[in-house]
Amino acid sequence: MDLFEYQAKELFVKHGVPSSEGRVTDSAEEARAIATEIGKPVMIKSQVKVGGRGKAGGVKYAATPDDAYEHAKNILGLDIKGHITKKVLVAEAKDIAAEYYISFLLDRSNRTYMAMCSVEGGMEIEEVAVQKPEMLAKVPVDAVKGVDLAFARSIAEQGHLPADILDTAAVTIQKLWETFVGEDATLVEVNPLVRTPDNEILALDGKVTLDANAEFRHPQHLEFADIDATDPLELKAKEHDLNYVKLDGEVGIIGNGAGLVMSTLDVVAYAGENHGGVKPANFLDIGGGASATVMANGLDVILGDSQVKSVFVNVFGGITSCDAVANGIVKALEILGDNATKPLVVRLDGNNVELGRKILADANHPLVTIAQTMDEGADKAAELAAAK
Ligand SMILES: Nc1ncnc2c1ncn2[C@@H]1O[C@H](COP(=O)(O)OP(=O)(O)OP(=O)(O)O)[C@@H](O)[C@H]1O
Ligand SMILES: [Mg+2]
Repeated sequence: MDLFEYQAKELFVKHGVPSSEGRVTDSAEEARAIATEIGKPVMIKSQVKVGGRGKAGGVKYAATPDDAYEHAKNILGLDIKGHITKKVLVAEAKDIAAEYYISFLLDRSNRTYMAMCSVEGGMEIEEVAVQKPEMLAKVPVDAVKGVDLAFARSIAEQGHLPADILDTAAVTIQKLWETFVGEDATLVEVNPLVRTPDNEILALDGKVTLDANAEFRHPQHLEFADIDATDPLELKAKEHDLNYVKLDGEVGIIGNGAGLVMSTLDVVAYAGENHGGVKPANFLDIGGGASATVMANGLDVILGDSQVKSVFVNVFGGITSCDAVANGIVKALEILGDNATKPLVVRLDGNNVELGRKILADANHPLVTIAQTMDEGADKAAELAAAK
């Protein structure tokens, strides 16, 4: 999960990384109030999860609270590379003597962590990386040894930071590493890492990516979730513990087991080529226990997608046998009642398949078509989607 700058800075405060005081808001009036409270010139900063905010006019200096109001008014709603600004950070403007760059990240290709550091930080860091790679130090970090003060100082030195500031920079850099480890991040990037005229080292920007696999260790990270930006169907699926991914096509897919669902996507996409190019609308794995409730929740999520024109249920009975799945489907259609409106193609195979098919045939639901094979089911579902 990528965080907004203001959220990254909340983590910086928690780990003692020096930054600049500030608060986030979605109103220009409040931006003025925050600036008044801070009592010094401030920066008004667009909060979007994309780089290059400054160059796009999303970071402005405000000498007075009235300036803060004006800039906030202009920046709220500003579109930065397709991301609309909904909030601005009002942060104390610091005097800057120099802008450096520091980051910690997971270096997947070398199976290690890495620090990157450069004396030439600021908004042109991408160009530094390309044109003067020798100015951007890339230092492998041993996961077990981590980063102590001495190593932090060495990282700063390799990034060519001036000798007289190395000790101070080491303190901030070491705390950024503590943030990286303590929060289970895969990225902590600060650009600019600023040197002030009185030789403080401050993190004036912050980009943090949290490792979703470590979520269970950090219940407090839940509040960082950007609910507004999450697809409502994905939220609903998550509430029911379903593995659901929305795609762009027309044929809803339900299967049990990730492997079967993935191959179903392929087979449907392939069959769709004969039916005007219809494609899978989603990935939904109902897992091992396809009870009536799980099936109803799954169908409910998929039928809620207005792009879906037909649904292909492809289940291989194992521990949960086909008759249980068939009963699940019949009961799910009962539960959904008039909310079930789209044709369903069902292919069952595996444990107790005969009984499963019989249960579906006996129920004789007008929306349900039984398919004997996966190819036949995919073709039928694609045909039904194309006909709509
Ligand atoms: N609190 C602050 N005080 C003084 N100057 C600031 C402050 N915050 C940002 N700046 C200045 O604005 C510039 C751009 O800000 P920032 O780095 O946060 O955005 P950005 O780099 O454009 O965005 P991104 O890092 O997402 O590409 C900084 O390089 C710095 O010169
Ligand atoms: Mg920046």
